[in-house]
Amino acid sequence: MKIKLLILIAFVFVTIASCTKDIIEPKLAPVIPPNTSAKFSTDVYPIFANNSCTGCHGGAGGLTLTGTPSAVRANLLLSAVIPNSSVTSKLYTFFNGTSHKNKSLTTSEVSNIKGWIDSGALDN
Ligand code: HEC
Repeated sequence: MKIKLLILIAFVFVTIASCTKDIIEPKLAPVIPPNTSAKFSTDVYPIFANNSCTGCHGGAGGLTLTGTPSAVRANLLLSAVIPNSSVTSKLYTFFNGTSHKNKSLTTSEVSNIKGWIDSGALDN
């Protein structure tokens, strides 16, 4: 009787232990937390000159990233930024885990862009 009980306990233990080993970790895309206190003029605008974005986006057609912070923000709102919606804004999606024209941004730069867009893309 004791042996049967021991075998039952061992069986239950092995079953439970093997269950926990079978859990497959889901592969999630890296989630970058937004910096919701990011301001355009000090936390987003400098990214463009620091990463030589302005070399291609200097005003010869397409998106222009040169000029005063207010002017650059206005240009972005024409096509690349949808206020409060970073997931549909190219300025964010182009750099979220991938890179655009071989230009990757750091995690904190992407965090600033995401936070600024999702806080209304203000002229601040
Ligand atoms: C080698 C040239 C080159 C560099 C460097 C470059 N881009 Fe671009 N980018 C382009 C081209 C070409 C397009 C498509 C045409 C356009 O909208 O200007 C584009 C499009 C974009 C768009 C979408 C514009 C729209 O209205 O659809 C965004 C946003 C953008 N770039 C941001 C950046 C940022 C930010 C950087 C720097 C980290 C950067 N780009 C660096 C060439 C470049």
